[in-house]
Amino acid sequence: MIASAAAADQAKRVLAIAGSLRRGSYNRLLLEAAVDCAPPGTVIRIYEEMASIPLLNQDLELATGGKGPESVRRFRGQVARADGLLIATPEYNQSIPGVLKNAIDWLSRPGPEEVLIGKPVAVVGASSGRWGTRLAQAALRQVLFATESLVMPNPALFVREAEGLFDEAGQLVDQPTRNGLETFLMAFATWIDVVAADRDTIVGRGSKG
Ligand code: FNR
Repeated sequence: MIASAAAADQAKRVLAIAGSLRRGSYNRLLLEAAVDCAPPGTVIRIYEEMASIPLLNQDLELATGGKGPESVRRFRGQVARADGLLIATPEYNQSIPGVLKNAIDWLSRPGPEEVLIGKPVAVVGASSGRWGTRLAQAALRQVLFATESLVMPNPALFVREAEGLFDEAGQLVDQPTRNGLETFLMAFATWIDVVAADRDTIVGRGSKG
């Protein structure tokens, strides 16, 4: 019992964020599969309060001392405490959904202690279409470049034609996709270690850090 508590203390903590509010979201289901497939020594927890994040309005920021309302502060705290972020983005009109962009915009402020600077991030995405969120993932990488997050360069995981990959209970039953997810998550665990080993040097080079 004590040994397992100590192991949990040392585990890498990954916060998983789905860019969809939809009940039955494939991106959400992909993250649930990621929770199951997490490599040893990594604990993945899904962020559950995306619907509580208001639209960013700088007047609201100002009225809350620059830090945003309570839901935003809680979100920022969870991100700050995580060793890495796993973001699953849908593709809306060849880009990321407004819900996800809005959340990242809140996380990108206030300076100078933005929680996304130097944060290891992994990007995945699922869509019902044939291209598996390629364009959305590229757009998300561009946004995360602005926030100076350290996005894992490879491997990539584009989950396409998602409706055929999950069963009625929402389980990821497509074995090649599951294998790809496991490989992806192992690579992310390594990426978190790589960043942790030299984070100060990398962040020090940024324009915000
Ligand atoms: C979409 N969808 C979509 N799919 C795609 O492959 N390329 C696209 O450009 C778009 N554009 C788009 C716009 C809008 C407004 C909606 C609502 C949907 C389909 C979308 O990828 C699909 O509905 C996914 O299932 C959404 O992700 P979740 O909610 O299942 O996680």
